[in-house]
Amino acid sequence: MPATAPKPKHAAPKVADQKMFIGGKFVESVSGKTFDTINPSTSEVICRVAEGDKVDIDIAVKSARKAFESGPWGRMSGTDRSRLLNKLADAVESHKDELAALESLDNGKPIVDALDADLPLSIQCYRYYAGWADKITGQTIPINGNYFCYTRHEPVGVVGQIIPWNFPLLMQAWKWGPALACGNTVVLKPAEQTPLTALRVALLAQEVGFPDGVINVVPGYGPTAGAALAGHMDVDKVAFTGETTTGKIVMTAAAQSNLKRVSLELGGKSPNVVFADADLDAAVEGAYFGLFFNQGQCCCAGSRLFVQEKVYDEFVQKMVAKAKGRKVGDPFDPTTQQGPQVSQEQFDRVMGYIEAGREDGAQMLLGGNRVGDRGYFIAPTVFADVRDEMTIAREEIFGPVMSILKFKDVDEVIERGNRTFYGLAAAVWTKDIAKALRMANSLRAGTVWVNCFDVFDAAAPFGGFKMSGIGRELGQYALQLYTEVKTVTVAT
Ligand code: NAI
Ligand code: MG
Repeated sequence: MPATAPKPKHAAPKVADQKMFIGGKFVESVSGKTFDTINPSTSEVICRVAEGDKVDIDIAVKSARKAFESGPWGRMSGTDRSRLLNKLADAVESHKDELAALESLDNGKPIVDALDADLPLSIQCYRYYAGWADKITGQTIPINGNYFCYTRHEPVGVVGQIIPWNFPLLMQAWKWGPALACGNTVVLKPAEQTPLTALRVALLAQEVGFPDGVINVVPGYGPTAGAALAGHMDVDKVAFTGETTTGKIVMTAAAQSNLKRVSLELGGKSPNVVFADADLDAAVEGAYFGLFFNQGQCCCAGSRLFVQEKVYDEFVQKMVAKAKGRKVGDPFDPTTQQGPQVSQEQFDRVMGYIEAGREDGAQMLLGGNRVGDRGYFIAPTVFADVRDEMTIAREEIFGPVMSILKFKDVDEVIERGNRTFYGLAAAVWTKDIAKALRMANSLRAGTVWVNCFDVFDAAAPFGGFKMSGIGRELGQYALQLYTEVKTVTVAT
């Protein structure tokens, strides 16, 4: 090839029909049923996927139980689990172009985002938890009397994991990294919209040597496969990411079956607060990214953008100019910044919110329309003069729809920022360190970003206050989600 040959453009891969992964094998569903996974850029079928139901979940749970209790996994040292997780990180890394293309095809996200964000963060997550696998320790505790007392941090057992479609590879990594580091076995149900990358990573995990049954992937729908996992009598813990109302259903199912442990990462309506003394251009940039990234399909999206009165008009003007330039289109085009919403259902839902914003009297300064005539593309949309009581300021939209609100002072914006059932994330933009820290202390959210947005790292915990969830993923904190503490007391 001559040195001047153009680099090949990323291309949408061809994908064969997919089976489910149970006990180290790819198998059909017991019923023989399949469902279609759709390319959101065209609304065409990518391929058929085996559709798991209660009976498939049963088989997967049995295989995970067997691997937990009698396979080589239970006898493996932390060092060996660490080695396997590192190998999985390496395998994901060496297949990053293929995985990014598959993710982009199934989810619709721009391939450059998959390559720049989803893949590196997923790889880092597996490596990070590889580092923990041989460092999970209890305590020795001096108690009264002649006893030797210590704790062991043991794996919880068989873990059910239910993930959404917005960051399929990354959510899988957030779930598998800590669960496997701690020695659990897992049954993962990927979202019905995006099952492809989970199955591909399962094969990679098998190839690097995870024993049969340690990981299982059962694609299927929420009310069938998902509900069977959440309500299973032999699953010790369920970890869920998705909508708050679904989280309640999962928690109820856990309560009504065997009181399995529950961790939830749910919705948000995160306040992003811009003070007049902020670096305005940086705030515009950060707020733009914090809302429009991933087609607006982020649980932590800065979807209530509070801007201080004095700079409000200038900020709105700059934001509209910036959002106007956002390039919407084919996710495989490396210059594309925004792809389609994930599904017809999500498209309709977001368009419904845009309509609600109009009806409530917010001022639509940009967008509001569909882009093109196929697929689920929505123009970047900006609403100004949004008030707290409007639907678009209260409910999670999960789309490229920005709501800009006006505020006067610190006390007011703290009160209004916290006036929500959610508490996932928040951000503040100011050059005044005292004000920044007061905001960081006062906002009731699991993450507060100061003069930045969407900064993620496997080492930094993430999760919600209030109805945004239970428990913390990532960092050392996630180890608590996947271990039981056992106290051993020995008479001396
Ligand atoms: P969802 O919460 O219904 O789906 C997430 C996962 O839960 C999927 O794997 C789904 O199959 C499963 N699920 C659904 N019903 C279930 C049930 N009864 N038992 C067990 N598992 C079940 O979210 P959906 O319907 O895809 O999206 C609706 C809205 O949820 C979005 O518009 C967005 O507002 C929010 N959402 C929030 C996410 C987050 O990261 N916090 C991710 C995805 C959606
Ligand atoms: Mg749902």
